[in-house]
Amino acid sequence: MLEHLKPQPADKIIELIALYAADTRADKLDLGVGVYKDEAGKTPIMGAIKAAESRLLEAQASKSYVGLLGDLNFVAAMRDMVLADAVPAARVVGAQTPGGTGAIRQLFEMIRMASPDATVWLSDPTWPNHPAILKHVGLKGASYRYFDSATCAVDFAGMMEDLAHAKAGDIVLLHGCCHNPTGANLDAAQWQAVGDLLLERGLIPMIDIAYQGFGDGLDADAAGLRGLAERVPQMLIAASCSKNFGVYRDRVGVALAIAADADQAQLAKGALTTLNRLNYSFPPDHGAVVVATVLADTALRASWQAELEAMRLRMLDLRNALAAALRKATNSDRFDFIADHRGMFSRLGLSPEQVQKLRSEYGIYMVGDSRFNVAGLPAERLDWLAGAIAKVL
Ligand code: LMR
Repeated sequence: MLEHLKPQPADKIIELIALYAADTRADKLDLGVGVYKDEAGKTPIMGAIKAAESRLLEAQASKSYVGLLGDLNFVAAMRDMVLADAVPAARVVGAQTPGGTGAIRQLFEMIRMASPDATVWLSDPTWPNHPAILKHVGLKGASYRYFDSATCAVDFAGMMEDLAHAKAGDIVLLHGCCHNPTGANLDAAQWQAVGDLLLERGLIPMIDIAYQGFGDGLDADAAGLRGLAERVPQMLIAASCSKNFGVYRDRVGVALAIAADADQAQLAKGALTTLNRLNYSFPPDHGAVVVATVLADTALRASWQAELEAMRLRMLDLRNALAAALRKATNSDRFDFIADHRGMFSRLGLSPEQVQKLRSEYGIYMVGDSRFNVAGLPAERLDWLAGAIAKVL
């Protein structure tokens, strides 16, 4: 049987982890996978998370099952963090999932259950796992233009033109903030215009929000999504705690569905419950309870928020510093967009050959589309990095 399997293509982001690990050069630089790193190049456990884990270790009295939707305190806390009071809580149902990826997978499967002929519209470019999961679950996908590589800004006219071809009931997947891989984001007026189009054409938004707090702040990053939620009858949200709580390997995420009324909400809740049961029964508990503990405790929450804000500001400083270093190294403003972008990533706009050259000649690892992880930038080696980039241009 196994001989009938076809070799699977490696995930272009995840394969970088192994390639980087195998590189023996001492001055190698990892700008690949989206993991936050501090000044020392480490991915620390956030203070509030560590404290909540100690409490949990002391207080947890049982490892028995919780429930198919996971920890409902966690689900409610995440609902509030993402949506605030944009919609009445009674219209929102949710399931704890293994990471944001788990939420995307469950929501795609729910779309397939409800609307197997719908097309899911993805930004071009998008996180490569979006189209990969979509294909795997057998849903139709289509792309809308999103990024203008000449200006390194959102191609909003192209986006609206392409989405005008979507048919009623189609799903439009939007990045809530910190667009991955481009770092170019919709502004408030553009969110409003997208909302108008969705309502006009009867399209359903699905928001992937994996970097809340990494762009302009915890609330600012959810503003577009919240504005949309206030206006549309139905909406799906996949939220991740991997980055903003730094709990990557613990797999913590939530799938939320906003329904038009209580009956729809019950149906969506039933679907999410069944999908959890079918795919893995109970979602992993540890990380979700830790996040719920942080969000429920005033002191832990304040500590977490302050640490998250410091991470965000560090990434902004690094953006500004790299843009300045590249301005000097290339004697041009070609890379100034890096300072305007928000989130963990931007694309340098290099060819795959140039990316490869940076890897082979300098030990600089970024994704093949020249997406780099801002948090991986070494503050004290930015001139060196900018010099290497200038040399491969
Ligand atoms: C990334 O885009 O690097 C992260 O979201 C990690 C991943 O799973 O791809």
